[in-house]
Amino acid sequence: MFNPESFIEEVKPQILKEVREEKILAAISGGVDSTTAAVLMYKILGKQLLPIMIDTGFLRKDEARKVKDMLKDILPLQIVDKSEEFISALEGISDAEEKRKKFRDLFYSTLSTIAKENGIRYLVQGTIAADWVETQGGIKTQHNVLVQLGIDTEKTWGFKVIEPLADLYKDEVRALARYLGLPKEISERQPFPGPGLLIRVVGKLTREKLEIEREVNDIIESELKDLGFSQYFSVIIDSQKSLDDLISSEVNVPVYVYNTRATGVKGDVRSYGKIASIPLIDDYEKVREIVQKITKYDVTHVGMIINDRKDGKYSIGIRAVLTQDFMTADFAKIELSKLQTIAEKIMRINKEIKEVFYDVTSKPPATIEYE
Ligand code: XMP
Repeated sequence: MFNPESFIEEVKPQILKEVREEKILAAISGGVDSTTAAVLMYKILGKQLLPIMIDTGFLRKDEARKVKDMLKDILPLQIVDKSEEFISALEGISDAEEKRKKFRDLFYSTLSTIAKENGIRYLVQGTIAADWVETQGGIKTQHNVLVQLGIDTEKTWGFKVIEPLADLYKDEVRALARYLGLPKEISERQPFPGPGLLIRVVGKLTREKLEIEREVNDIIESELKDLGFSQYFSVIIDSQKSLDDLISSEVNVPVYVYNTRATGVKGDVRSYGKIASIPLIDDYEKVREIVQKITKYDVTHVGMIINDRKDGKYSIGIRAVLTQDFMTADFAKIELSKLQTIAEKIMRINKEIKEVFYDVTSKPPATIEYE
C-alpha cells in the first residue's frame, strides 16, 4: 500500500540535497500530476520554487484562470501567455508524432528562456510511471519524457529535470495530492495531456478546428462530469470518409473509414491506424463483437454515429473510458439517450459539424487519446 507520508519522508532529503539553495521552475499543465509535483516541491522548498503555467493556446476553455483560482491558497501560480506562438508554429501540421515533437521542442525552449531569465537551473515536472513506460515502449512520444529517452536536458535547454513522481502510478499520485491538501477538483481531476487540445484536434491543426474542439469539449465535460468515468473528452476530425466494402461485408453493417489516422497499441508497440465509423446499434455487446472484428484490420478507433446531417466539414468524437492505471481502458457504456442529448447540443455549436460519434474502442487496441 502506498503511504504518502513515508513517500514524502523519503524524497524530501533527496530533493534538499540535490537542489540546496537554488531556485527551481515548476511547469503546471492543469492536470493532477504536474500540480501535485509542484505543490510537493513548494512544501519542501517554499519560495525557492517558481510555479508557472504556460498558456499554450491548447488549454481547455478558461483553464488558466480556473486553475489559478483553484490553487489560489496553495501555490502562487503565474500564467505565461504564449498561445499565439504555439498555435502559429503548429498550424497546418497533420502527423501526430510531428505535432508532439514540435510541441515538445517549443514547450521546453519556452521553459528554457524563462529559466534563464530567472537564473534557474532546475525544472520540476510531474512525469509518472505510465508516461515513460509507454514512451520507452514506442507507443507515443509523450511530451514530458526526456531523460528516459536519453535527452540531455542540461545541454539542450540548460536545466536539470527533477521528477519526484516518476515511480508512482495515477492512484498513488491522487493519494499524495489528497494528503498534500489539494482541493478535490484537482486531486480527483481527470488527466489532461500536456500537449492538450493539440492532440485532440486530430489530423491537420487549424484554428477553426481548435476553437470548435474547445467549445465541444467544454460541453462534454459538463455533461459527463458526475458519471464517474476515468477520462472523458471530445476530439475533432475532418469528416471525409469512404465505405470499406471488405470490412462492411465481414460485419454486415456499413463501415466507413476516415482519411485521418489515430494511434493505438498492438502488443507493446504503437500503431497509427485508421478511424472507422459504424451506424448506431442499440446493443453494446453486439457493438463490442463488431469492433473486435473491425480492429483486426488496420483500424485503431471505431466510432458509432449518434447524430449526423448531410453537410459539414467535421466529425466530433466523444470518448469516455474507465480504467485503473491508464495502461488499459474500457469504453464506458453510456446510455444512448444520454449520448443523443449531448450530440444534439454539439450539432448546434457549429454548422460545419457533420456528425457526432461515440468511440466504442477499448485500450488496446485503441489508445485513450487519438494521437
Ligand atoms: P493514451 O492515449 O496513451 O493515454 O492511452 C494514456 C494517458 O496518458 C495521457 N497522455 C498524456 N499526458 N502528456 C501527458 O501529460 C502527453 O503527451 C500525453 N499523452 C497521453 C492520456 O490523456 C491518458 O490519461
